[in-house]
Amino acid sequence: MAQIFHRRSNTIALVSLVGVFIAPVGLILGMSGITRSPANTNVGVALDQPVPFSHEHHITELGIDCRYCHTSVEKSASAGVPPTQTCMSCHSQIWTNSPLLMPVRASYKNNTPVVWNQINKVPEFVYFNHSIHVNRGINCNRCHGPVQKMMLTYKGNPFQMRWCLDCHRNPEKNIYQSSEAKKSGISPREQVFDLYWKYQAGTKLSPREQSLADGFDDYAPSQEEVKEGEKLVEHYGVKTKQLADCSICHR
Ligand code: HEC
Ligand code: HEC
Ligand code: HEC
Ligand code: HEC
Ligand code: HEC
Repeated sequence: MAQIFHRRSNTIALVSLVGVFIAPVGLILGMSGITRSPANTNVGVALDQPVPFSHEHHITELGIDCRYCHTSVEKSASAGVPPTQTCMSCHSQIWTNSPLLMPVRASYKNNTPVVWNQINKVPEFVYFNHSIHVNRGINCNRCHGPVQKMMLTYKGNPFQMRWCLDCHRNPEKNIYQSSEAKKSGISPREQVFDLYWKYQAGTKLSPREQSLADGFDDYAPSQEEVKEGEKLVEHYGVKTKQLADCSICHR
């Protein structure tokens, strides 16, 4: 008998099951310890997307670098979501019959973009910039949660003003150097992406890195780590005096 179902159709079942399970658990985890203002309601909940894109699959299993898809994250204010061509660089050759990828193929054929629902957003009156954070070695997960484990993408943080300020008032608690950065001198920016390679390879992580990989943003650094942080803040020339000024984020 002809094969009616593509062998990957199990994945559809898997992806939708995972959606059902992760959403409530993520919601509970995401809610604990934070207030319940409307801005928080979507934390931990995967949004419906035209294609059930899995970061877990593409990052941890396949080992693709964030920058392959989010090309502007280290250079500009916004990270950017990949165009269809980026997906087709692989999917014109692999899983070409996957029903899950139908919207991607249609987009390619008709030259119309896949319309992804944006998950993370700050209000118009807030200025945010990715490149400065990434270039200071602040990990994506510090703000977005455990992206490399997400089968469907969800919001890791509500991005309340108080949360931004917590870090801007104490950057020394958040700026650090990984042991690789200390040893071989990889840049703060490379350290951000190196975390995912280490995670993928199963390399032993420091307690701070483990907390980042788990996607928690409440790591309490030791006194020694804070001292190191203070030195780095000075070394990088972080404008500590201005960082909490209203005009930094409201321009
Ligand atoms: C570097 C290559 C590569 C790129 C780029 C890539 N993928 Fe994939 N993708 C894969 C591979 C390989 C698999 C299947 C792996 C497996 O199931 O073992 C896959 C699987 C998938 C699946 C599951 C398909 C199924 O039927 O199980 C979806 C959905 C998907 N990719 C979406 C995307 C989207 C959307 C993009 C662009 C944003 C993208 N991929 C970019 C390599 C890639
Ligand atoms: C193969 C392409 C690909 C790779 C590699 C990739 N992403 Fe994505 N990413 C996407 C696509 C497509 C979306 C939009 C769909 C979604 O939200 O799942 C997205 C969405 C996101 C979002 C949510 C955007 C929003 O709407 O707010 C974040 C955060 C994110 N990615 C972080 C990362 C991080 C961190 C890495 C590296 C560890 C990474 N991504 C690697 C393709 C990719
Ligand atoms: C300091 C916190 C922070 C860090 C670190 C961070 N992000 Fe974001 N990210 C945000 C905020 C805030 C938004 C919403 C921005 C907006 O509304 O303009 C966002 C939005 C996004 C988006 C969707 C909108 C866009 O900019 O295209 C993607 C994709 C994304 N981030 C990926 C990443 C990746 C990949 C990394 C790591 C290389 C990363 N982010 C690091 C806070 C952060
Ligand atoms: C984990 C720490 C951390 C978090 C969380 C964080 N920031 Fe930052 N932010 C920094 C550091 C460090 C700098 C770099 C300051 C420097 O080098 O002078 C910075 C710089 C900035 C700048 C200055 C950019 C420029 O061009 O001068 C803006 C704007 C900014 N952050 C907005 C935000 C907003 C909005 C949020 C919350 C959505 C946020 N940040 C969350 C650590 C953080
Ligand atoms: C590090 C970035 C940052 C700095 C510095 C900052 N804000 Fe905000 N502000 C935000 C973000 C992010 C929001 C949006 C919060 C949300 O959507 O829940 C916000 C929202 C607001 C709002 C709207 C009401 C509210 O609370 O949501 C007001 C008013 C405001 N800020 C005033 C100020 C004033 C006054 C200062 C200086 C004392 C300041 N902000 C400094 C990031 C910042």
